[in-house]
Amino acid sequence: MTKKNILAGMALVVGLVIPSLAFAANEGEEPKHPKQGWPHEKIIGAHYDRAAAQRGFQIYKEVCHACHSLNLIAFRQLEGIGFSEPEIKAIAASFTVMGEPNMETGDVEERPGKPFDYIPSTFANPEAAAASNNGAVPPDLSLMVKAREGGASYIYSILTGYREPTAEDLKHVSGGKIPDGAHFNPYKTGHVIAMPPPLAEGIVTYTEGQPAASVEQMAYDVSTFLAWAAEPKLEQRKHMGFLIVAFLLITSGLLFWSYKRISKQVLGH
Ligand code: HEC
Repeated sequence: MTKKNILAGMALVVGLVIPSLAFAANEGEEPKHPKQGWPHEKIIGAHYDRAAAQRGFQIYKEVCHACHSLNLIAFRQLEGIGFSEPEIKAIAASFTVMGEPNMETGDVEERPGKPFDYIPSTFANPEAAAASNNGAVPPDLSLMVKAREGGASYIYSILTGYREPTAEDLKHVSGGKIPDGAHFNPYKTGHVIAMPPPLAEGIVTYTEGQPAASVEQMAYDVSTFLAWAAEPKLEQRKHMGFLIVAFLLITSGLLFWSYKRISKQVLGH
């Protein structure tokens, strides 16, 4: 290689690498999510923290449900986080759903929910939801944990990440200021979010024997619940994956052992 070639090569590397590094730095503006050590993200023995998920359902019902639907979850599925049948009946009945059409008139009337009903949304349609939320539609939360990088940690970070922006923070906000009715949140792309901080100390009362309902605890609990909602069958899937890997390992061991034995008999070494 001539000197010229080497120089050209170096220029190429610098030309390609530096801009992509700068781009990566720009991309990575959102702070890293604090690691929670979610039991459902473990490789072996992954499971949902059921007590946390049940408290999380309470938070969803009493706080988030005012704005967010959870369209993919039926009450009966709450059995998956350990609610008993009578508890599920009572939970379902505490919601009002649209009933079946009247056989003669075709009119649909409201009735208390039943275990087979899906969790009804508070708003009749996205337009009504937007009208109540400064024009922003609160997204359905059923698959939110899957839809955002970081999963449950992302939800946790959003819920605990609200704070007054510093002058430095505002440099990263488009237009340099937070629009009226919006809020600063470093974890949201663009750092501006239309959702007002939903959690505050004392917003729910946990039953006896449960941890104190601090903002962090509530964020942990509702994130656990939403992780379950996004993948109710995660435990079975991970357990099955583990069994398959164990089976493959044992089979490979047996194959190798019989190969060794046969080659010894045939070749004598
Ligand atoms: C007063 C209404 C309101 C309440 C209560 C509320 N939210 Fe929101 N939420 C919104 C709106 C509006 C948006 C859309 C924000 C945006 O796009 O800027 C949103 C967005 C979100 C997002 C998506 C953020 C993203 O990355 O796009 C998550 C996650 C979320 N909310 C979780 C929750 C949870 C969990 C609760 C309950 C603890 C809750 N919200 C309570 C109105 C609400």
